[in-house]
Amino acid sequence: MPFVVFEGLDASGKSTLINKVRDSLEGAQHSCVFLRDPGTTALGEKLRKIILSTEGEAPVPRAETLLYQAARVQMVEKNILPALQQNQWVLCDRFYSSTVAFQAFARGLNLDDIEHLNHFVASDCEPDLFVFLDISVDESQRRKENRASDLGVAQDRMEKEAISFQEKVREGYLYQARKHAQRWLVLDGTQPPETLVTSVLDEMKRRQWLG
Ligand SMILES: Nc1ncnc2c1ncn2[C@@H]1O[C@H](COP(=O)(O)OP(=O)(O)OP(=O)(O)O)[C@@H](O)[C@H]1O
Ligand SMILES: [Mg+2]
Repeated sequence: MPFVVFEGLDASGKSTLINKVRDSLEGAQHSCVFLRDPGTTALGEKLRKIILSTEGEAPVPRAETLLYQAARVQMVEKNILPALQQNQWVLCDRFYSSTVAFQAFARGLNLDDIEHLNHFVASDCEPDLFVFLDISVDESQRRKENRASDLGVAQDRMEKEAISFQEKVREGYLYQARKHAQRWLVLDGTQPPETLVTSVLDEMKRRQWLG
């Protein structure tokens, strides 16, 4: 069954889109699991808190990378591989593509090292499709600020990174989309959610995953 990853800058609409895709797939009686990276497993959720906390000692970039990879590989073995073996769809909110964008492009770690770690963690479960919700850094900032004032949620450690950092994250996604064009679907994330879900479902039909 297909393994689909949703990617994008903070507040690009990943959760909104995943929820809508979930409604459509479950409505059509498909058995699916929905995961978030970092997180999902008990260990992964603990690591997520450590990684994203704005308090205490921040991990240095290589430690940050390894914490993400530890959370991820736990989810690969505990959730993704079992789900695929049981013929379930897997839809995942971020995956190693985020580490290429954040830790290689934005933090400046060596891309070959990051790709080597990605292989170590996920070579037995390569995603079939990456859906990238592309928005500008300005739009991401606007949405984060609105959310912070509407809901009173504080920004996490990655969300607080500078504009120049977020620009490099976006470049990292666009690089991957160009390099692996056949597995990346790039959508304009400023389109209405209904348009975005239709584009995703159309792509799934084009790939003959849906009737
Ligand atoms: N297609 C869209 N057009 C305009 N606004 C949107 C769209 N999708 C989501 N939003 C708004 O953007 C904000 C972030 O949406 P959402 O939580 O789905 O993004 P996210 O990518 O999951 O964020 P995070 O990175 O924090 O997990 C919300 O206020 C949501 O209402
Ligand atoms: Mg989200």
